[in-house]
Amino acid sequence: MIPENQKNALHGWQKSARYWDKYRDLITEMFAPLTSGLVEEAQIGIGQKVLDIGGGSGEPSLTISKIVGPTGSVTYTDPVAGMLESAQAEAARRGVENIHFRQCSANDLPFEACTFDVAVGRLSAMFFADPAAAMREALRVVLKDGCVAFAVWGPKEANPFFSTITDVIDLFVEIPPKDPDAPDAFRFAVSGKLAEILEQAHAKNVIERWLNFQIEAAISFEQFWQLRTEMSETVREKMARLTPAQLPTVKQAVAEAARKYFASGTMSFPAEALIISGRKLSRSLPQF
Ligand SMILES: C[S@@+](CC[C@H](N)C(=O)[O-])C[C@H]1O[C@@H](n2cnc3c(N)ncnc32)[C@H](O)[C@@H]1O
Repeated sequence: MIPENQKNALHGWQKSARYWDKYRDLITEMFAPLTSGLVEEAQIGIGQKVLDIGGGSGEPSLTISKIVGPTGSVTYTDPVAGMLESAQAEAARRGVENIHFRQCSANDLPFEACTFDVAVGRLSAMFFADPAAAMREALRVVLKDGCVAFAVWGPKEANPFFSTITDVIDLFVEIPPKDPDAPDAFRFAVSGKLAEILEQAHAKNVIERWLNFQIEAAISFEQFWQLRTEMSETVREKMARLTPAQLPTVKQAVAEAARKYFASGTMSFPAEALIISGRKLSRSLPQF
């Protein structure tokens, strides 16, 4: 049985799926440095079998499918039907033949042990219902010495792409204190937090790398506002708590706060993420 809070979270992602589909080109462009970071960290190359955990509207699966080529394959997974449908439709539209699709949660991967060379997750680990179980599962399904690598956001203060809107809304609505371990974009922003979970899952060579980059796209503030207020369940929930009279004031305040990120005529936000990776021990452990 899926617990109620997990059901709600997945329902939120299901509502988000159409917007992740709508903005897929921008998402690919804006977060490409994270895919490159994962590919580099896990040393993904031609002919490999790669697992993507929490693949959303299709990244990094679609990019990695080109890197591994026809002799390799990618297995895309996500527990949310709308996300899987979006990714699958895009792969079909592009004529991609080396991606397999499975609807499943990171906590319970429906694959045999030692199936993949590499397992990756881009911006998904923060939302896993049980990160410890998910790390154990990722390690179980990769080959001995195989790499698992996850990209997660760094602190909110270093990521104005997110905080510019939420910080303003938070001035207008009362926000109950958050459990730092609850699923949230910044759940693993603290140095060492996900690395420790991966170590406890018995990964070896655990490495945490900080990645500073720009989230860039040729869009206006208006387009950024629309993208953020549609794509994010957190922002949608917060916006729903504003009165109609507060909305223009909030938007104006966000426009002012965001002005410097649009100074060049297009969008460019500084961003900070972490790439946490580790390898499966060569000797087998009883709990696997
Ligand atoms: C921020 S999106 C990232 C999607 C994609 N990887 C990307 O970078 O564009 C987070 C994804 O994690 C998925 N997710 C949520 N809970 C999950 C779980 N328990 N196991 C695996 N994926 C999960 C969501 O459905 C969503 O597609």
